[in-house]
Amino acid sequence: MPQPPRIAVLASGRGSNLQAVLDAIADGRLAAQVVGVYSDRPAAAALQRVPEALRWSAVPARYPSRADYDAALTDAVAASAPDWVLCVGYMRILSDGFVQRFRGRLLNIHPSLLPKHRGLHTHARAIEDGDAEHGASVHFVIPELDAGAVIAQAVVPVAADDDAERLAARVLSVEHPLLLATLQLAVAGRIAEQGATVTLDGHPLFTPLRLDSAGNSLNR
Ligand code: GAR
Repeated sequence: MPQPPRIAVLASGRGSNLQAVLDAIADGRLAAQVVGVYSDRPAAAALQRVPEALRWSAVPARYPSRADYDAALTDAVAASAPDWVLCVGYMRILSDGFVQRFRGRLLNIHPSLLPKHRGLHTHARAIEDGDAEHGASVHFVIPELDAGAVIAQAVVPVAADDDAERLAARVLSVEHPLLLATLQLAVAGRIAEQGATVTLDGHPLFTPLRLDSAGNSLNR
């Protein structure tokens, strides 16, 4: 029997997105396997969500240079022979070498409706800007931060009395189904990065897929 597609996961924090992936694999909603979880923070809760044999972590400051840490991370991820590399709350900027090594199979979930609000503090910035809608995006990673082709997005309303914490929780609740729906397309070989464009079943997507809170497509 063919082996399920192999997913390597990079995470710096609590790992709720990773848990959503693990749960979906366990109950048969995602035909894949997690082959390693990699973190720049050895105390990250995300690491605890997989068996010890699958964990890799290293404190970047303990390496002589940024390039040394990046090379160690690249080698460790490559050693797990991933079909897909998934960033879920990995809070360090990936080196160009890492991105080039895994380009085309490197995905990130970002808590905004890209191209709005690249970088940090996305929820506070959405409120500050008076956005009526906010959400999350899954995109291919390129060397420029949060600038790769967007595959799919999920939208939530911004309420007049929202603070960043409450808005973040609302976004997180749609991140998990968004991530799973996108990964289902990825592991089935249905999406690909072609330059600045995403193709779905070989056809270019002119706008990102929009998914509802259950992860169902709204535009196909
Ligand atoms: C998620 O909201 C994810 O979108 C965000 O970090 C959180 C991780 O949550 N990612 C970024 O901000 C990347 N720039 P989790 O650890 O519970 O999955």
